[in-house]
Amino acid sequence: MERGAVFAGLHSNHLLSPLSSRASASTLSPSPLADGRHFCPPLLKLPSQSHFASYSNKQHFSSSIHVASPTSNATSESADIDWDNLGFGFMPTDYMYVMKCSQGENFSEGQLLRFGNIELNPSAGILNYGQGLFEGLKAYRKHDRNILLFRPEENAMRLRMGAERMCMPSPTVEQFVEAVRETVLANEKWIPPPGKGSMYIRPLLMGSGAVLGLAPAPEYTFLIYVSPVGNYFKEGLAPINLVVETEMHRATPGGTGGVKTIGNYAAEGAFCVRRSKKWLLIHCESAEYGDSCSSFRSVRIAEISLGPSARLWLVLKAQSAAKAKGYSDVLYLDSVHKRFLEEVSSCNVFVVKGNVISTPAIKGTILPGITRKSIIDVARSQGFQVEERMVPVEELLDADEVFCTGTAVVISPVGSITYIGKRVSYGSSGVGLVSQQLYSALTRLQMGLTEDTMDWILELK
Ligand code: COI
Repeated sequence: MERGAVFAGLHSNHLLSPLSSRASASTLSPSPLADGRHFCPPLLKLPSQSHFASYSNKQHFSSSIHVASPTSNATSESADIDWDNLGFGFMPTDYMYVMKCSQGENFSEGQLLRFGNIELNPSAGILNYGQGLFEGLKAYRKHDRNILLFRPEENAMRLRMGAERMCMPSPTVEQFVEAVRETVLANEKWIPPPGKGSMYIRPLLMGSGAVLGLAPAPEYTFLIYVSPVGNYFKEGLAPINLVVETEMHRATPGGTGGVKTIGNYAAEGAFCVRRSKKWLLIHCESAEYGDSCSSFRSVRIAEISLGPSARLWLVLKAQSAAKAKGYSDVLYLDSVHKRFLEEVSSCNVFVVKGNVISTPAIKGTILPGITRKSIIDVARSQGFQVEERMVPVEELLDADEVFCTGTAVVISPVGSITYIGKRVSYGSSGVGLVSQQLYSALTRLQMGLTEDTMDWILELK
């Protein structure tokens, strides 16, 4: 099959025709928090950007909150950005969704707020003990201007599983899906035109209440923000080059590798260093592990006074070191035998040999990816034999193709894998046939270009 034909759905030249502005966001008075307390005492405040609302009001999130009516789309005019050059970088949009509850209670009512920085008590559970989860899903603009979500209830259920593991309350599936729907519609103008990318939706669930001794936080915040995105890897859809990590491990049996806890993904390019009596939080938009602070290219610094219990943001060492050597990412092995494939930093992995597609079984250390699960079903429906099992690293040497799956990466073909100094390449001319075929089937479904026989798509209009 021709590569161009397979990827045609993603490279459409179809441009979004601007719609007339619908009802715009209205300015409403803020509602007090349900428990009458502050969202967070304003003790730690990252620098706010001038066009964002800031939340420093003593009683409420904000003294004047712009709330988008859930029944009216804020505006469906397209944002004025270069849709042809989207990468996977954060771009602020108009609104975020926030819902909170106390420990032992249930989430009840959330609201859309102007997108902006949030304030957290330095003693918040998420900052001190990593009590936090995130999710990732995408919204696609269809040619008929409808907006499509891909299996949002699966994200809701995964969040609930993770919350149970992390001792946190979580929104119901219905609350989650409704919150996603409201957030996407309020930010509709940031959804890329068909074929130009997608809107990445990032739900967060965090222990926002203050703790000092190790314990579940007394208060929780569920927050959703969105950002228009293009391809995750800088290679775009071209095959990526992986290196097998033999020393460091992503997860251990009995740990949290199987849930989407923030700690599993320790921040790349975010460092905390101690300078005299202050902690400096340094954001580096482009930095390699091992760079000295002075050599960071794009740096924003917030000086924060933290107590002695403050934790460091850790650099994801293995990935940063691999990137410094020119690899796209790291493929982790299991921590017990140091022999079986686990996952790549941000995605699951599949190995193709003939008609058999193998992927590491879900057994507690591997994230149960929604794209992983979907690709297994799509592949089986296309006649492939899919095996979920322990996959020894040696099988990479003999594979026909290898590809990765994830919400952010979608399907990323692997061009080469280096294992203990030995490099194995897959396919001499670009993307393998099986990867192409599955990529095409999945993305056409996600973008509404083929009939949704699986009942996976939620249309928002
Ligand atoms: C996703 O694929 O949605 C993820 O959450 C992975 C993240 C590292 C971008």
